[in-house]
Amino acid sequence: MSSTPKSLGLDTDLHQYLVAHGTPPDAVLQRLADDTSAMGPIARMQIAPEQGAFLTMLAGMLGARLIVEVGTFTGYSSVCLARGLVPGGRLICCDVSAEFTARAVQAWHEAGLDDSVELRLAPGADTLRAMPLDDLIDLAFIDADKSGYAVYYEEILQRLRPGGVIAVDNVLWSGRIIDSTDTSVDTVALRAFNDMVLADDRVDCVMLPIADGLTLCRKR
Ligand SMILES: C[S@@+](CC[C@H](N)C(=O)[O-])C[C@H]1O[C@@H](n2cnc3c(N)ncnc32)[C@H](O)[C@@H]1O
Repeated sequence: MSSTPKSLGLDTDLHQYLVAHGTPPDAVLQRLADDTSAMGPIARMQIAPEQGAFLTMLAGMLGARLIVEVGTFTGYSSVCLARGLVPGGRLICCDVSAEFTARAVQAWHEAGLDDSVELRLAPGADTLRAMPLDDLIDLAFIDADKSGYAVYYEEILQRLRPGGVIAVDNVLWSGRIIDSTDTSVDTVALRAFNDMVLADDRVDCVMLPIADGLTLCRKR
């Protein structure tokens, strides 16, 4: 199917305008972004601020009581997700790095989220498989190793309530997703993942051109 594109490629000025017209990061998120930025090029793993505002809104719109995140890093997305929880709700964060997540733990404390967030330091697949099937997830955010996406998606979907949403980051992969000369492991894994989601009749899906591409999969 072909169609006339209506999406804009955002140049720097237009992108700045877009960011300036959404809810800005508060002092906790700004401090976290600044400190993560000082870590050097690895800071690119952090989600974009407009994506953070979107995740908070999405969690709030879903009335999320249980959120799962795979790939926490220094904590930006987790703070945003946890802020959308209903009172008493929980966010379970999966990561393998004690070093990165020490910064996240500090950010949760600064944000007053100590009682809302649980860190599971283990491979994401192990943590998800250990979760009960009847503790229904309202929202999940997948943003870890790209070759693991399909497993995370499947384990989460089995525990997702009908109407619940899985948000998946980096699905456009800086445009490399359609570069047929790029056959690197991560690119191939993301392509296969995107095709798999499209063919999955258990969900409705939409790919948003926010940041590096964000797919929302809503369980039917
Ligand atoms: C792109 S970063 C996440 C960025 C984060 N969402 C943010 O907003 O700052 C990816 C994270 O996935 C973690 N990771 C890598 N392999 C993993 C695995 N097998 N299970 C869980 N986490 C993993 C890395 O340690 C890293 O912190």
